[in-house]
Formats: sequence, C-alpha cells, structure tokens
Amino acid sequence: MKKRLSAISFCILIGMQMLVAQILIVPEPQMVTEGQGSFTFNDQTTVSVPDSRFEPAVADLYKYLRRSAEIKLHPVSKHKKKNTVELVYNADLPEEGYALDVTKDKVQLTASSQSGFFYGVQTLLQLLPTEIFSEKENDIREWSIPCVSIQDEPRFGYRGFMLDVSRHFVPKKDILKLLDYLALHKINTFHWHLIDDNGWRLEIKKYPLLTSIGAFRAERNNLFPLRANQIEGEPTPVGGFYTQDDVREIIAYASGRNIEVIPEIEMPAHTNASLAAYPHLACPVVKDFLGTIPGGGGKNASVIYCAGNDSVFAFLEDVVDEVVELFPSSYIHIGGDEAWKDNWKLCPLCQKRMKDNNIPNEEELQSYFIRRMNVYIQSKGKKLMGWDELVDSEIPESATIFGWRGLGQSAVKAAKKGHSIVLTPAQRFYLIRYQGPQWFEPFTYFGNNTLKDVYDYDMRMSGISEDLQDKVLGYQASMWSEFVTGTSNLEYMLFPRLAAMADISWSKKPKDWEAFLKRLDKLTAIYEMKDINYARSMYNLFHDVQTQGDNSTITVSCLRPDVEIRYTIDGTVPDIHSTLYTQAVSVKPYTVFQALTFCNGKPKGQILKLIPIRNLATGTKISGTEKGVHKLVNGILGSEKFTDGEYLDVYAKDLAFTVELGQLEKISEISLGFVLNGGMGAHYPQSVQIEYSKDGKEYYLLKQKAFDENIRFVDCIKKDLVTLNDFDPVEAKFIKVQLGTPGIVPASMPREGQPSRIAIDEVYIN
Ligand code: ACM
Ligand code: ZN
Repeated sequence: MKKRLSAISFCILIGMQMLVAQILIVPEPQMVTEGQGSFTFNDQTTVSVPDSRFEPAVADLYKYLRRSAEIKLHPVSKHKKKNTVELVYNADLPEEGYALDVTKDKVQLTASSQSGFFYGVQTLLQLLPTEIFSEKENDIREWSIPCVSIQDEPRFGYRGFMLDVSRHFVPKKDILKLLDYLALHKINTFHWHLIDDNGWRLEIKKYPLLTSIGAFRAERNNLFPLRANQIEGEPTPVGGFYTQDDVREIIAYASGRNIEVIPEIEMPAHTNASLAAYPHLACPVVKDFLGTIPGGGGKNASVIYCAGNDSVFAFLEDVVDEVVELFPSSYIHIGGDEAWKDNWKLCPLCQKRMKDNNIPNEEELQSYFIRRMNVYIQSKGKKLMGWDELVDSEIPESATIFGWRGLGQSAVKAAKKGHSIVLTPAQRFYLIRYQGPQWFEPFTYFGNNTLKDVYDYDMRMSGISEDLQDKVLGYQASMWSEFVTGTSNLEYMLFPRLAAMADISWSKKPKDWEAFLKRLDKLTAIYEMKDINYARSMYNLFHDVQTQGDNSTITVSCLRPDVEIRYTIDGTVPDIHSTLYTQAVSVKPYTVFQALTFCNGKPKGQILKLIPIRNLATGTKISGTEKGVHKLVNGILGSEKFTDGEYLDVYAKDLAFTVELGQLEKISEISLGFVLNGGMGAHYPQSVQIEYSKDGKEYYLLKQKAFDENIRFVDCIKKDLVTLNDFDPVEAKFIKVQLGTPGIVPASMPREGQPSRIAIDEVYIN
C-alpha cells in the first residue's frame, strides 16, 4: 500500500469533523483564505508552465518531491483538469508577488515574473509536511497540502542579508547552502562583505598578491580581540578566497533563487589585507610592517588607504573594473565605515590633497575619496552604496546609505536629502550580538539582539517618519564573523533570527509575536529536516535577582510566552513534575535555584542555575551615581561576559557608591568583582578609594589604591577580584567606594584612543 503523509500537522480529527489548522508560513503571506480538504501530489501529478522561461522557478518543486518521494512530475503544455500544478501568467501581479490557489483538484500558481513563481513555489513547499525537506530516504509516495487561497507580495523590494567572509572565510559550498536558506526566507539580496582587514577574499587578476598574501593570516587560536598581529616573516596559513569562477558560480546560483549579489569592496578603511599585499597604498608616514590582521589589529586598524596618492585611485579603479565585469548587480557597496584619520592628519600627501582641493578637514577628505570613486563607479553604469559614515561629510551623489550605527538614525539625514537607504541597525539587525541570556551563549561582542528584538524592530525606531518611508529600500540582517568558528556556529548565529528579519521585511501585516512563534515552529521543523543548526536561545531564561537582607527574590522570564517554567530549590534537576513558576521566588543565601522551560511536556532550552552568595554587603541598602548599583549587592555573580546583565557597566565615567550595612560591623576586607575585556575597553579602574563611617555623616579614609597605566589596561578577557585588606580592621556601618574611570585606552591596545569602562558584578565586604 502506498504510504501517504497527509499533512497531519495541519489537521486534527475530532470525532467525524476535520478541522483545518492554521497555515504556517514564514514570512507571513499578505492574505490567506483557508479552504476545505487537501490536494495530494502523487506519481500522476503533472505541472504545466505557461512558457519555458518559468521552468526554473518550479525547479525546487521537482527537486524536493523527486528527492523525497521519487515522484515524477510531468511537465505538460496543455492544461489538465485534475491532479495538476498549473502556472498561470498574469501581468497584473506585482514583481515578486504571486497568487496560490489550492483546491482538491489542482494547484494554480499565478505570477507575472520568474521571482513571483519562485516565491509561490517556496510558499507551496512550506505547506507540505516538513519531511519533504529531509535529506533522509523515506518511502512516502503521496504528499498533501491543505486547500487554501493565498495572495502575496513583499513589503520591501530589498530584503537583505550581509555576510562578512573576511573575518571568517566561508567556503563556496557553504555559501551555496546559505543561498538556499535565504531563498527559503524570501530574502532577495546577498550583500557580500568580501574585503576587510582580516582577509581579501576576491580574486583580482591584475593584483594577484591581494589573494596570495591578503587572503591569508597568521594562525591564532584565541578569541578575536586577543589575537596579536602578525610578526614580519611569520607564516600565514589561515584563510582562503573565491576565484572569479567561484564568484560566477555563486552569482548564477543566487540568481536562480531570486537573489541579487552585491559585492562590498571596502575603502578607504578596513583595508589592511590589501595593504599587506601592496603597502605603498598606505600613507607614506606609516612605517610599521603591515600584515593581514588576525584580530582587532591595535593601531594597525587605523592604517587606511592614502587619500593623497593617485596610485590608490588607479588601483581601486582597476579593482572596480574587474568587479563590474563579474557582478551583474547594479550596485557596488564601497564600505566607507570606521575610517580613522590619524595617518591622514600626518601624511604630507593627504594634506597636500586637502590644500590643493580646498578640503577643510579630513572628514571631507573622505568625502572627496568616496565621491571620486563614485564618479568612476557611475561611469561604469553602477550605483554606489555605503555605510552611514558617508553622511558625516558631503554625501556622494545618488549613494544609497546603510544605516547601521545605533539604530541607524544617521541614515535619516541621507533620506532627508533624497537618498535611498537600507536599514541594518546594529542594535537590532547585527546578528553578531547575543541572541539570548548570555550565560548560555558562545562568546561574542556587545549586548543582546534577541529574536524578539529583531522581530519588534520598526523603522520608526530609527527616526524614519512617514514622509521618509519611501526612501527605505528595505531591511537587512548583517552578520559580522569575528567570533564565528565554523559553519555550524554561523548557522547558530543566523537562525532563527534571520526568519524574524525576513518576516518583517516581507509581510505588511500587523505584528503578532505569539502567532509568529507558531509559524516559526513550523519553520524550525524545516530547519531540523535540513540539518540547520539553529539556536534554541528563545527558550532560555533571563533572570533578575534583588536581594534584601537574607532574601533573594528571583524573577525569571522567557521570550516565549507559550512555555511553562519549572524550578527546583533542592539541588535536583527540574523536570515536568517540578514546581511551576508563576511568580518571583524568594530564596535564602546559598540556595541552589534551577529553572527550565517546557513545551508540551518536553524540556526546552538550558537549565538556569543561580546560587545567591552572602557577605556583609549582600542584601544591604546601596546608593550610587549609577542606576543598577543594586546588582553589586544582589549576591549573584556574573559570567565572563560583561553584558550578561549582572554587571554594572560604567563607560567613560567615574563611579561612586555607598553601602549601608544593617548595623556596625567589623570590616577587615573589601573586594570588587571586575571583568576585564580589552576588546570592549573594560579595564581596571585608575583608582579605588574606600572610606568608612559609623553614622553616614563623617567619613574616614580606609584605603586608597592606584592602578598605573601599564597595570590597569590589559588585553584579556577574564574575571578578577580586586581585594583590599592591608588595613587595620575598623568598625563601620557605611562604606563609600569611589572608582576612577580607567581613562583613554593607550597606544597598541584594542580601542586605542577611546574612552574605557569598568564592569563590576559584586562588592564583597567582610
Ligand atoms: C560596521 O559595522 N562597521 C558597518
Ligand atoms: Zn596619505
């Protein structure tokens, strides 16, 4: 007997009545009308296309049905009445839009373009049981989809994904796989960040050293911010690049999946890989050895192309010539971000350029640089794109600006001047950031961009008023790969957040977080069939602990409202029978609190374990110059991640706080829990001063300690307890602590020349 998988997932039999459940598609279609019954694909199903041009659009249907079921779909030119998939051309439908009508007898897919048919098929595939996506053999011969009518078109014409392949080289085979995944999400633009300090990844025939030298770096197996620069003469075994044939293959593959590939050729900064190959393109004042940078680069990160040297422009024009030949996209992205001008200020050539052209300052010299390249790019029939630093000086004519800093607000300035913009705000769409409670996440930079943060983004948050909305080409998720360890880890960082970005870029419907999660669950089942290593961080628990006296009040929360949270306080692992969490839990010091989320009786996510510690400061009254000082006495210690929520993070400021103990106590030791993170500018304070008082009025100096520059600035990631106990014990009720900010980061350190921070999780008084 033929085995039939009749999309049980969307049907629930109750007595004699069949209820058709919701249609679960990501991104969400504009209009869905559910029907009765289902259509079944079998070995008699045929497909008709109006014109052979559109055959590639249905290739995925053949691919999945054939591979999974060995069903032969027979393309026929004339229409059949039954058991057929019929593609109908209708010029009235918008580009990328489609209509899908599924009845018991036939599937009719209407569109006006290849992209519309392609997306109609992508939707159809999501209607099928998820097993269709499995690579594993099965003997299912009939596949059903629910009867439904869908009318769909995208909200934005630009739905982008940027991948940095410089910090972490992603091999061609994985790029091809990623393109498949983008298509599944109806993402239509692949912004390929091919060039950065850490590797030049694009073969340029005229400049072979760009890849023979610039695509490889010294071996460093530590975290990105801790990687030392290459020493002259040191071997450079790590890296890789794409040949021009690879690029053509990738572009052709992308094109078959309705994805435009936009190359990013960074200038004038983030260019150390090319300077390693051709050092004469740096300002002549740069005397240091320039290598491809394995990590943050220290002061080498501020070595950029010389704006006063015409050879730089000749070189870049040659590069553009080959890029134009390779990439059919009408755009070339030229970067333009984070160009530190230290060397331009010192360089006689740059200064002469400014004088000769009446350029008032180095920021405008950058504008000169980019505008000059813009003229060239436009002469080749292409349009320039760049990061939002381009608005800090005269914006190149017709440039499309990518708003990234903060919430991308700088792009508003460009939009007001009539420029098109793409919104990829770091605070929402940078997938390098943590996606859940940081205790459970692999190490990366910065704060959180959770699945919900991505889903909740709205361009109004970036200051885009209604009258500027037509300047927004669309949204983009951007993946910087400093911390990526391999393809599986890359997938973890991308999915499912990419689905949230895709959903809000495609769908015009009002947001509904819970409904999105239901649709996402169907999509993650597809991820599982495709062996995509997606993150389950949405099931992990955030926590907040407030301690007063002997009581620690623990509040936990989950991004998903549809989970049960269960916990224990007796040291056992929480299971489905453990106490259901319904409100904050109060525990005594050293209680082992463990909590876990459950869905349909199954454990999800990871166990949150909290053990409130105790010292004289714990649970006392604390006041200070910063909000959040209560974290210093809540008895909960932080991880090595200073943004995990347990740290008081004080940037470019001194910190003072006063702890009021419950009564007079004998004090013989005071400790402060710091986390150090050179890459994020978290260092020891310049000074610690501790005073004590019996009455809160008259304070006396207890201890002072200074940290010299060579001690306080350390390029490492670690927790360190600073303990002061070389004083005679005193009786006190009030302890006042003053910490001097570490100050400006010195030369040869990550974040050189920038202000720094202190991050403390706990104060210990004993
Ligand atoms: C950027 O993140 N520097 C564009
Ligand atoms: Zn110069």
